[in-house]
Amino acid sequence: MLISIKDILQEVSMQYDLLSYALPHIEEETADFLTNIIAAKKAQNILEIGTCLGYSTIVLANSVREYGGRVVTIEINDDLFWRAKKNIEKAGLKDYVDMICADASEAIPFLKTKYDIIFQDGQKGMYVTMLDNLLDKLRSDGVIIADDTLLDLTNPYKSIRKAIRDYNSLVFSRNDLISTILPIGDGLTLSAKKF
Ligand SMILES: C[S@@+](CC[C@H](N)C(=O)[O-])C[C@H]1O[C@@H](n2cnc3c(N)ncnc32)[C@H](O)[C@@H]1O
Repeated sequence: MLISIKDILQEVSMQYDLLSYALPHIEEETADFLTNIIAAKKAQNILEIGTCLGYSTIVLANSVREYGGRVVTIEINDDLFWRAKKNIEKAGLKDYVDMICADASEAIPFLKTKYDIIFQDGQKGMYVTMLDNLLDKLRSDGVIIADDTLLDLTNPYKSIRKAIRDYNSLVFSRNDLISTILPIGDGLTLSAKKF
């Protein structure tokens, strides 16, 4: 029997709660925003950094399939990768997702596609170092969406607060980018290339 997306997201969400090393998934309002921007752009190619158990991947794939598109998602942790694969299959979305188990900073230079939307939700300390590689894979009218960028205000870990602050400072200081921060979920920084 086919399970509804709402039910599978609920089931996957519970897995995040039960697995001590699974970091939190995106909030519902972040999922709504991603669905909205995919529809507005009629996005076809999405790249996601940080699959974890696949919650956000399911949201992205379920939206992008409407436009005949697909998601490439990269997860560094082998166990999370296999668990996410099962969840994506259970959601009936495996034909819309290409999964890579690797360190995204090593895998990205090998990707051949240019993406409409890049969703950065991996390790916060790598947001800055990965930016140029990600921009290289972004279409000229594409957008990089970085998650958790208002964690700065609330996160107890100094290194994470610094990583987020450094990322926001960098994207706002670059003349080739136009960036904005939206107070959605734990904060989203959107950066598009200037023409
Ligand atoms: C916040 S979680 C992602 C949550 C997921 N996007 C969701 O909303 O369901 C961050 C994930 O990034 C993964 N990660 C961290 N560094 C990475 C890297 N260098 N390459 C790929 N994945 C990485 C972690 O293992 C973790 O599962």
